[in-house]
Amino acid sequence: MNLRKLLGLEPKNGSIDEPPTPVGTDAFTEIAEYYDELMAPVPYKSWVDYVEAILRRLNVTPHDVLDLCCGTGQVGAELIRRGHDVVGADLAEEMVRRCAERSPRLPAVVMDATHLGLRADCLDLVVSLYDSLNYIVDAEGLQRCFEGVSHALRPGGLMIFDLNTARALRVGLFTQSNVNSTEPLEYRWKSHWDEERKLCKVDMRFRWRGPGDRAEFCETHYERAYEQDEVREMLARAGMETLHVFDAYSFHEPGVFSNRVYYVARALKVE
Ligand SMILES: C[S@@+](CC[C@H](N)C(=O)[O-])C[C@H]1O[C@@H](n2cnc3c(N)ncnc32)[C@H](O)[C@@H]1O
Repeated sequence: MNLRKLLGLEPKNGSIDEPPTPVGTDAFTEIAEYYDELMAPVPYKSWVDYVEAILRRLNVTPHDVLDLCCGTGQVGAELIRRGHDVVGADLAEEMVRRCAERSPRLPAVVMDATHLGLRADCLDLVVSLYDSLNYIVDAEGLQRCFEGVSHALRPGGLMIFDLNTARALRVGLFTQSNVNSTEPLEYRWKSHWDEERKLCKVDMRFRWRGPGDRAEFCETHYERAYEQDEVREMLARAGMETLHVFDAYSFHEPGVFSNRVYYVARALKVE
């Protein structure tokens, strides 16, 4: 897909006049170079299998796809390999730069999901995986994101995204360490949960001990949990109908022990 066509002539980038989305000012900066190493165990291909299984259930074959919050482009690149026409968008310049290096077939731009400047009716599918939308920590921002997506979807177009649940963030799934492993990227993460604000702050420390120069750095990430009713309401306000909410990688409804859920929403537009 032509990026200029997707973006329109004047892509909006609200980050100039408005405070940046507080994903943590240092989030996805230094880690970008090591992100794929960190994600080596992540089964991206099965995640894309799952997205395709959802599409098959709905009897939909999307052509033009946006990988929103694409990171280094692992999901988008896999969708391209499977014949879709995909572009990527991410807020973090370093991640987009890395995406261009590792996934040259995936055109990607720096864009804030809370201020999407996409043209109307140009996409069949928007995917946003790996708790990317939890990084939008204000409800108004997530609402604007859904509105931007809805605007860009063709009538009947789909949005498929996952979210970490409050349970996942509350029980400290982000408190992790691999210091006793031999992996080249050592990490030590400590999460803090604020029940009132449904906000999880994760202090991340990294040490690269693989080939090349040694490096040590820290990043602070914030994720906000959203309840299912809240998300459904926001999607509805943005002109999208929630078709399904699944416990991740299944076709079952989420339960109290669900750590990640998938939303499948459809743009309710008249042709
Ligand atoms: C956990 S990573 C997931 C990346 C990718 N989807 C994947 O599966 O590997 C979250 C991504 O969301 C991006 N992100 C966070 N807030 C964003 C926003 N407001 N707009 C666009 N991208 C955002 C980050 O820069 C980061 O690349």
